[in-house]
Formats: sequence, structure tokens, C-alpha cells
Amino acid sequence: MDLRRNILILYTNRAVHEWKHADFQINIQVMRKLKLYIAASLDGFIATPDGSVTWLEEAASSKDPNAYGYQSFLDSIDTTIMGYNTYKFMEDLDAPFPYPDKKNFVFSSSHQKAKANPAIFVATDLVEFTRDLKKENGQDIWLIGGGKINAKLLNAGLIDEFIITYVPIVLGSGIPLFAENTTMTSLVRKLLIPFDDGLFQVILEKKA
Ligand SMILES: NC(=O)c1ccc[n+]([C@@H]2O[C@H](COP(=O)([O-])OP(=O)(O)OC[C@H]3O[C@@H](n4cnc5c(N)ncnc54)[C@H](OP(=O)(O)O)[C@@H]3O)[C@@H](O)[C@H]2O)c1
Repeated sequence: MDLRRNILILYTNRAVHEWKHADFQINIQVMRKLKLYIAASLDGFIATPDGSVTWLEEAASSKDPNAYGYQSFLDSIDTTIMGYNTYKFMEDLDAPFPYPDKKNFVFSSSHQKAKANPAIFVATDLVEFTRDLKKENGQDIWLIGGGKINAKLLNAGLIDEFIITYVPIVLGSGIPLFAENTTMTSLVRKLLIPFDDGLFQVILEKKA
């Protein structure tokens, strides 16, 4: 009994000694979040079958730059990622690229950038690239869409926050918020915000 007690004291003293003389370095790495900020119809479409979003432009009537929390959201991110179809839609608008002060990654296996703008085309694996991007230092990352890359990143469990602004309209058909072959994923609602123009925003998180 005494022997066991002595051994215990010996080990305790050693642990205290090591604790006192250890050169501690604590590295706390907070991963940047991948946030899907997007608008959808009540039936879960982000565009009509031809890619049009005029139904959204007509409904989102507020001229306030921070309407739908947009400016605050934009200030919280320094990087965007989007699929080629979403990029193409922006490019065809013939307007200046909308996020010149951000790092913008466009995923495409078969297209090259056609116009001079700050977008960076990426042909490597979307999931691996995004996983690595989240480990880099910086502000959060905006997943702009569209439905195809949303689904891939959702299935990989990489989307941390979902900020979905719903337009009270039923489109009947179109490009889905998440493309087919999406895995069932449970989320937790953090906030529900109604707006005066009838739109409403729901902020959800991945279930822990
Ligand atoms: N309502 C909104 O707030 C909102 C927001 C964003 C977008 N949108 C709309 O959404 C539409 C585009 O959505 P979408 O679903 O058709 O396309 P998308 O997700 O924007 O782009 C899909 C394309 O990305 C490329 N890609 C690269 N890696 C991929 C991967 N691992 N998985 C899937 N695709 C990959 C492929 O092009 P390659 O063949 O070149 O590889 C693929 O065809 C547009 O009409 C846009 O206006 C609406």
C-alpha cells in the first residue's frame, strides 16, 4: 500500500515539475466559415430554367445597400466561390464585375476566362480546393452558388452557414438551390427575419 502511495506521489511531483518547466505554446486556429448567401423562390429555385432572376430583381424592391443584410454580409467575407454557370450569368450582364475587392474563384473544368476581371478560374477538385481554402487565414468565404456546386459542397459537409432569402413566389420549375443527388442534411435554424417587402430570410447552421 505504502509503495503504491509513494509511486503516486513520485508521479504527481514529476507531473508538477514538468508542468512548471514546460514551454507552452497554444495555437488556436479558428477556421473561416463557408457561408451560402443566396435568394430562392418558395419552391426552392434560384433561377428560372433559362437562368433568369428577373422575378428576384422585381421582388427585392429595397434600395437600401444593407437590405437583406447584404452589406454587413459582404464586409464579413474576403473570398467568393462560384460555379461556372453563375459566373457566366454575371459575365453576360455586361456590367463591371461585382466583387472587385474580393478574391473570386470560379470552378470550371472546361472553360477559360474570357474577359478581364478579377476572377480566378480553378480546374482542380472543388471539394479539396474548398477544404484547403477554409484552412487559410482570412475572413469568411461566400459560396455564391449555383445549385450544382452548392450540392457538392453540402454533400461534403463544408457549408457552415446558410443565409437564404426567400421570395414569396412559386416558380414551378427552374434551377434548384441544391442540384439533384443532394444528401439529406439536417440544419438548425438560428434566425428568421421578415422584411417589409414580403421577402424573408432564414439563417441556418449545420447541426453539430
Ligand atoms: N438566386 C440567386 O441568388 C442565385 C445565386 C447564384 C446563382 N444563381 C443562378 O444559378 C444559375 C447557375 O446554377 P447552376 O446550378 O446551373 O450552375 P453552377 O453551380 O453555377 O455551375 C455549375 C458548373 O460549374 C462547373 N463545376 C466545376 N466543378 C464542379 C463540380 N465539382 N460540381 C459541379 N459543377 C462543377 C461545371 O462547369 P464546367 O463544365 O465548366 O466544369 C458546372 O457545369 C444561374 O442562372 C445563376 O443566375 C442564382
